[in-house]
Amino acid sequence: MNKQLVKNIKSEFKKFFSSEPLMVFAPGRINLIGEHTDYNNGFVLPAAIDKGIVVAIQKCEANITTIIAHDVDERYDFSLNTIQPIANGGWKNYVLGVIGELQKTGKHIENFNLVFGGDIPKGAGLSSSAAIENSVVFAINELFNLGLSKTEMIFVSQKAEHNYVGVKCGIMDQYTSMFGKKNAAILLDCENLEAKPIQINLQQYQLLLINTNVNHNLANSAYNERRVTCENVSKKLGITSLRHAHENQLFNLKNELTELEYQNALFVIQENQRVIDAFNTIKNENISGLGTLLFESHAGLQYQYNVSCTELDFLVEKAKESRVVVGARMMGGGFGGCTINLVETNKLEKFKDQITTKYNQKFNTTCSFYNVKLSEGTTLIS
Ligand code: GLA
Repeated sequence: MNKQLVKNIKSEFKKFFSSEPLMVFAPGRINLIGEHTDYNNGFVLPAAIDKGIVVAIQKCEANITTIIAHDVDERYDFSLNTIQPIANGGWKNYVLGVIGELQKTGKHIENFNLVFGGDIPKGAGLSSSAAIENSVVFAINELFNLGLSKTEMIFVSQKAEHNYVGVKCGIMDQYTSMFGKKNAAILLDCENLEAKPIQINLQQYQLLLINTNVNHNLANSAYNERRVTCENVSKKLGITSLRHAHENQLFNLKNELTELEYQNALFVIQENQRVIDAFNTIKNENISGLGTLLFESHAGLQYQYNVSCTELDFLVEKAKESRVVVGARMMGGGFGGCTINLVETNKLEKFKDQITTKYNQKFNTTCSFYNVKLSEGTTLIS
């Protein structure tokens, strides 16, 4: 966690509201593998990171609630009696969503002041949205003693995303941001939230995120469409979710499916298996095996699930051409954001230089690099 960030948010709170706040941190996440499997009740292998959102919160006497978004220097005052989504509301919908969904559960909240800010690059696919939702729900739960469990809180966060932001996301981001474990990834079964943390020994390699710095606005609508497609195929297969489908079962139904439905569902079935395989490669300390699975995952996301984009494909292609990278793929929902790469540690700087030059030549813009530490989930800052 970034200590300077905590300091800044706290002093900003004190400057505006002259009281001592309660402080909360919620991390962003990476995902080693298992993309678009969570809303199909499948497996994912994510980890919380050391970048995230910090919230300062305290009760207030006024009959208005005030939120300050530190990073964009915006302030929003509103009444708790009229909570609803705002068209093109940006960050406001994450906060309003959490309040609105908490109210739906019958919990009583009084007015409060809140300042939040973070160090997760926006649009990078590192789940800044889940981190905002989790930090806010955790802070409100603590402040008003609502007695919600962490599991109840992540469902509030997820519903905020569904009903206020309009993305019908799975549970991976909220789960990981809430339950992250230091130095570990988590094999999560999204059907029942059974989780197995696993320490990763990357040997001579390390994880490197490369941000395309693009975020195509197709992302949200395409995401929801993919979800509907998957649900339609499961209905046709007569099962509750694609998590329970097998390739041969899908093949037998091929004539009743469009090519798109077939390819999308095939991707999900195969990606789900790759997560299990990846878990085993980590257990067996077979990092090149893990790398191969990352490349395969990317190919599936690019050609079968169609959620990649030129910039992501370019970065993965260059990673594949490089001898110092054993695996790479796009990460998150797609259409922009980061690739995740397994790069030889002592060749890292040289690789970054090469990619910077190539990306610049091709797109006339820069890409950014992040090293992340695998970290604990959402927590009160003492
Ligand atoms: C987004 C969603 C997650 C998950 C990923 C794709 O991050 O919020 O629920 O579906 O995309 O794996």
